[in-house]
Amino acid sequence: MSTVITGASGHLGRLVVEQLLTIATPPEQIVATGRDVEKLADLAQRGVTVRRADFADPTTLDEAFAGADTMLLVSTTTIGERFENARNAIDAARRAGVTRIVYTSIVNASTAHMTLADEHRRTEDYLRDSGSESVILRNGWYLENYTDQLPMISQYHALLGSAQDGLVSAAARRDLATAAATVLTQDGHLGATYELGGAPFTLAELAATFSDVLGTHIAYQDMSVADYTSTLTGAGLPPEMAAAVADADAGLALGELYTDSDDLEKLIGRPAITAHEALRDAVAAGESR
Ligand SMILES: NC(=O)c1ccc[n+]([C@@H]2O[C@H](COP(=O)([O-])OP(=O)(O)OC[C@H]3O[C@@H](n4cnc5c(N)ncnc54)[C@H](OP(=O)(O)O)[C@@H]3O)[C@@H](O)[C@H]2O)c1
Repeated sequence: MSTVITGASGHLGRLVVEQLLTIATPPEQIVATGRDVEKLADLAQRGVTVRRADFADPTTLDEAFAGADTMLLVSTTTIGERFENARNAIDAARRAGVTRIVYTSIVNASTAHMTLADEHRRTEDYLRDSGSESVILRNGWYLENYTDQLPMISQYHALLGSAQDGLVSAAARRDLATAAATVLTQDGHLGATYELGGAPFTLAELAATFSDVLGTHIAYQDMSVADYTSTLTGAGLPPEMAAAVADADAGLALGELYTDSDDLEKLIGRPAITAHEALRDAVAAGESR
């Protein structure tokens, strides 16, 4: 039997496949799926089974999931289509005989009011009612959401947001992927819901971390949700994405991206990567390019 990793053509799914290979899962027991299988060609060369799966086109899914007993269901990207995408995948997984589904949700999905939590909450409920055994990984906000802004922050000496003095328990994708690989390969997790976050910080504290690592003053500039949305749109983000990001910051201000859970540390068996470490690594990676 094999384990299907959806979204393997994306950042998180790819890291999970790499983790599984690192912990000696035989490549032929891994099925890596995505819409764009060209991005998975190197995995195919390493013996991983690669299949196309588009959750918006259920006709692609039966073949993609055939022969698997376990699935990592990585949430898709298009806001407003994510629940339907996940429902199609869960239904197809059941048809294919997949009995265990691990779903990547968002931290505090059951209580958060931010727009992004809604489709995760509906997917969690659908999965619980589906009859499949499941594990919910409520992934924290990615540290990469901040480290990816490094070029702009270095240029303008400012970190922008509408998070006020809220705390965010952000975590590196690499740690979240390790947690997923642990849950996929160890017994004893079925039925669990894990809140996965790293050491919390405010965005003013994060700006101080940027200042420290870059050796120059970076200010946190807090703005209204409306102003932040139009700033993001002006910077080229599609309007619905800009609205969701600013809305997430409003949720952050209310504590919706904060968790005091130590689930992540327990699953990965070491302290989670900190903002300082992630930023230092991002700067080093930029310098070596
Ligand atoms: N916690 C956070 O801060 C945070 C931030 C951003 C996103 N997320 C969520 O976490 C997920 C994983 O993050 P990531 O960084 O790996 O995102 P990513 O790099 O954008 O990867 C998204 C993956 O979803 C796949 N996908 C999109 N639409 C699909 C569809 N209709 N059917 C099948 N696959 C589809 C993509 O496949 P193709 O590339 O082949 O199209 C890709 O493999 C995201 O999709 C999003 O739901 C979380």
